[in-house]
Amino acid sequence: MYIDVEYPAERAEFYKVLNGELRLYSGGEEDMTAALANFSSVLAIAFPRANWTGFYLIKGGELVLGPFQGRPAVTRIAYGAGVCGTAWREDRAQVVEDVECFSGHIACDCNTHSEIVIPLRDENGAMWGVLDMDSVEPGHFGDADREGLEECVKILERFGKNDK
Ligand code: SME
Repeated sequence: MYIDVEYPAERAEFYKVLNGELRLYSGGEEDMTAALANFSSVLAIAFPRANWTGFYLIKGGELVLGPFQGRPAVTRIAYGAGVCGTAWREDRAQVVEDVECFSGHIACDCNTHSEIVIPLRDENGAMWGVLDMDSVEPGHFGDADREGLEECVKILERFGKNDK
């Protein structure tokens, strides 16, 4: 059973607690879908101002929708398209303070104002998908979140080489 946890406001402490929660609900699961599903749920609880938390996975040369929390979303994203495809092409995280100002942003929910996309990497650093989070607040995600989330997704590193 899920037990509610209090998330501290201070960013370093927040990410310590979040990392523990993600390990608790995803860390021990060997099935990728199950682990990613719980991961997205923990993030949705930890970020009450996020209206979408979830995954796109690289499959057959495009990004395909994975487990998520939020409204239905675009199911496939081409290499270089939108914020997610840009993260893939540039091989780095994207922090978008105002999605209106990101040329090519793919709108899935008109309430979204800001977005963060974090690469999922295998143990050799090769990207196999992205974590995508949207928020109704402009500028909701910053560098501390990029660093914190980059650390958190290392929990999923083991799925990079699995047959998806
Ligand atoms: N905004 C993303 C598309 C996915 S939705 O946000 C869930 C993008 O531009 O890549």
